[in-house]
Amino acid sequence: MSKKPLRVAVAGCGDVAQTKHLPHWNELANEERIEIAAVCDIIPGRADFCRDKFGADKAFTDFAEMIEYAEYDVLDVCTQNRLHCPMTIDGLKAGAHVLVEKPMAMNVREAQKMIKTAETAERKLMVAQYMRFEGYSELLKKVVDAGELGEIYTGRTYWMRRRGIPGWGKFHVAAESLGGPLIDIGVHMLDLCLWLMGSPIPVAASGKVYRKFGDRKDLVNPEWGVPYPAEEFDVEDYATAFIRFENGVTLTTDFSWAANIPDEVEGLSVLGDKAGISTNPLGVYSSEYGTITHKTFDFVPEKYGHRGAIRHFVECVEKNKSVLVRPEESLRVQKIIDAIYESSDKNKEVTIKQQ
Ligand SMILES: NC(=O)c1ccc[n+]([C@@H]2O[C@H](COP(=O)([O-])OP(=O)(O)OC[C@H]3O[C@@H](n4cnc5c(N)ncnc54)[C@H](O)[C@@H]3O)[C@@H](O)[C@H]2O)c1
Repeated sequence: MSKKPLRVAVAGCGDVAQTKHLPHWNELANEERIEIAAVCDIIPGRADFCRDKFGADKAFTDFAEMIEYAEYDVLDVCTQNRLHCPMTIDGLKAGAHVLVEKPMAMNVREAQKMIKTAETAERKLMVAQYMRFEGYSELLKKVVDAGELGEIYTGRTYWMRRRGIPGWGKFHVAAESLGGPLIDIGVHMLDLCLWLMGSPIPVAASGKVYRKFGDRKDLVNPEWGVPYPAEEFDVEDYATAFIRFENGVTLTTDFSWAANIPDEVEGLSVLGDKAGISTNPLGVYSSEYGTITHKTFDFVPEKYGHRGAIRHFVECVEKNKSVLVRPEESLRVQKIIDAIYESSDKNKEVTIKQQ
């Protein structure tokens, strides 16, 4: 007899849910591995729209009502950051495994609470760090795991937009989102870098965040529109940091939504004493035969990270496997983020607590 499809509920039917989650849940539903049992959004009509478009059974405007209405195997949290922790905890307590959008939470305390609740409930919890599931990331991870880099000693990552401040949703409001590019695009690069560096334990961070564009009424943000009221913008639009890890490894980071640079750039490099890897341009950089060398990949499988993350999570639930993005790794990223904001406030390096 075939297994019953997993019952999935999706909280939040905004941009990420509609473009990056629900299409993949819909695909899995067509394969009869899951059913989209419920969707919910507080904006009237949004959940109905998604129910009809992606084939959900029911639509709700109230999250608590959705959770109480039925039992779900999986809850997918796609709401703004402020709601990641409370919705995850409610879902876990109601018996669902939870996939939650990034960043994990608004602070370390919340992230720790989420992990504890998942452990107590014996449910899986994973932050949807989609970049780990892209073809190039998987290739680079294979290079690292094969020991080609030798001793890894430092890394560098950046995602700098010239003008790219999200205009929709609550990205510009600290009380709803915590921060700007650091928690929006930086969180992806931090997660990916730490994974490729072997998940080192962060012990200190020195950072500075700036707000130079987002609250300006004369902001030119052509590709992203400026529908948010500039006076509401109270997050950073640039973040820079230097992070130290327990094993002496370091990481340098730069993230911006707006900066006076020629064009958007995104990348990372992880350096070892035998070789270094880089995404920009993608390759393995080393020295052999008395000269300097570089290895490229003639074929990089085109994998869509969000699809990969969702399908991986479903497989983990179906087969009771461990998730690739371990919650304690996401907690480490959250500790770094909290430390960068604290360091920026205090204007000095701060120590990252281990507990
Ligand atoms: N991984 C990625 O590539 C990626 C990209 C964009 C956004 N995100 C993350 O996804 C999350 C959502 O971002 P978005 O761009 O979809 O924002 P959005 O504002 O478009 O969507 C959020 C939705 O949540 C709904 N919502 C708010 N309160 C709710 C409640 N109490 N119950 C139910 N629904 C509620 C809103 O009405 C809105 O429709 C954020 O955490 C963001 O960081 C991830």
